[in-house]
Amino acid sequence: IVKPDGTEKNVIGEVISRFEKKGLRVIALKMVKLTKKNAEGFYVVHKERPFYGDLTDFMSRGPVVVMVLEGDNAISKVREIMGATNPDDAAEGTIRKDYASNIEENTVHGSDSPESADFEINYFFNALEING
Ligand code: RTP
Ligand code: MG
Repeated sequence: IVKPDGTEKNVIGEVISRFEKKGLRVIALKMVKLTKKNAEGFYVVHKERPFYGDLTDFMSRGPVVVMVLEGDNAISKVREIMGATNPDDAAEGTIRKDYASNIEENTVHGSDSPESADFEINYFFNALEING
């Protein structure tokens, strides 16, 4: 997901391009504006965290671009290209190092396991929209 700060910063193409250049393929893609409730449902795994309210306000502040990326080791590859959650800890050349404002407004989200990818892909896409 290109988060609301990413769409505000006008780096949708840049983010997608970084994934494509590393051999990942976009097989589903769209822009949506989440409601607070949509964001709460998406991040339900973080419900008990102190940042849940702020995070779901942020994620519903503006449009996001959701996509499904296909490729070998896609989950770990995507997370490597994104960089650490906190841009202060993110490696040089990562998306978060280059574009994130802070630990919350960190430009991108990536699924962290096959199980979360399954939940998250189905949250946004139906079978007709996935071209894998
Ligand atoms: P994401 O799920 O968005 O890909 O990020 P992540 O795995 O690197 O980080 P995670 O621990 O899953 O946290 C989810 C998102 O919550 C916001 N966050 N804010 N204020 C805080 O301390 C804090 N910690 C996390 C970030 O937007 C983070 O990406
Ligand atoms: Mg996460």
